[in-house]
Amino acid sequence: MIAQGTAPALKYTAQNDAAEAIHVENLHKRFGELHVLKGVSLSARDGEVIAIIGGSGSGKSTLLRCINCLENPTSGIVRVNGEEIRMKADSHGHTVPADRKQIERIRSKLGMVFQNFNLWSHMTLIENVIEVPVHVLGVKRDVAIAEAEKLLARVGLAEKRDVYPAYLSGGQQQRAAIARALAINPRVMLFDEPTSALDPELIGEVLKVIGDLAREGRTMVLVTHEMKFAREVASHVVYLYNGLVEEEGPPEQIFGAPKSERLKQFLRNVG
Ligand SMILES: Nc1ncnc2c1ncn2[C@@H]1O[C@H](COP(=O)(O)OP(=O)(O)OP(=O)(O)O)[C@@H](O)[C@H]1O
Ligand SMILES: [Mg+2]
Repeated sequence: MIAQGTAPALKYTAQNDAAEAIHVENLHKRFGELHVLKGVSLSARDGEVIAIIGGSGSGKSTLLRCINCLENPTSGIVRVNGEEIRMKADSHGHTVPADRKQIERIRSKLGMVFQNFNLWSHMTLIENVIEVPVHVLGVKRDVAIAEAEKLLARVGLAEKRDVYPAYLSGGQQQRAAIARALAINPRVMLFDEPTSALDPELIGEVLKVIGDLAREGRTMVLVTHEMKFAREVASHVVYLYNGLVEEEGPPEQIFGAPKSERLKQFLRNVG
């Protein structure tokens, strides 16, 4: 659901009572002179799948990166797991996190999957999946391994547990990256164009894994260029244009009866 000053139109009544896992309010991000996000608001309640669509450079990745603290917002509110990220001004007047420990805590609630997989190349798949649980979260190694084996099986990679990423296809690497993100048991999964670096014949296997997670009720924020998929899995779709929410709503509205001329044009171009 998105609030842009007015009460949001709510699609799933049952979900309105669910707790807010992510809340973004009037978020601005500037890179020097470039004003990339110009007051974006968005929220994801537990069980919702929020799809973010929009043209190249509209600010989709920057928005996700502000949510998981890879970028520092210039102003606005970001709340994850009920906790507002506290910022302060440094000696140059730049906004920086006020509390590093808080950033670690917030990141531990978010499973992030990037376009380019970003697996650790010097580690086998099982090592990739247990790394954060064991070395950051303090999970016992044997417990983490048992959990990692389940996760690899779930994404169809049980047989590949001792293989290095270089020996896998892009689709397999991305499925392993999803298993790794799930291993911290995140409250929300964030995906930034998880299939756009893949050969067309490998896209389906990755979308299948993400679709299964959505159907299981995983809370997700998903940046994607796969419009058919967004229509299938999203509970709410946000169309970003030039750093602002141009239109948002349930997938039937956004894809079936868009109001904004820019959104209509965008859908014609990608469809
Ligand atoms: N670290 C940075 N420094 C300066 N400018 C940046 C930085 N990161 C992003 N930008 C600029 O911010 C704008 C939005 O970028 P962003 O990556 O968020 O777009 P996007 O919607 O994800 O696009 P795409 O669909 O191509 O991935 C672009 O003009 C980009 O060049
Ligand atoms: Mg991007």
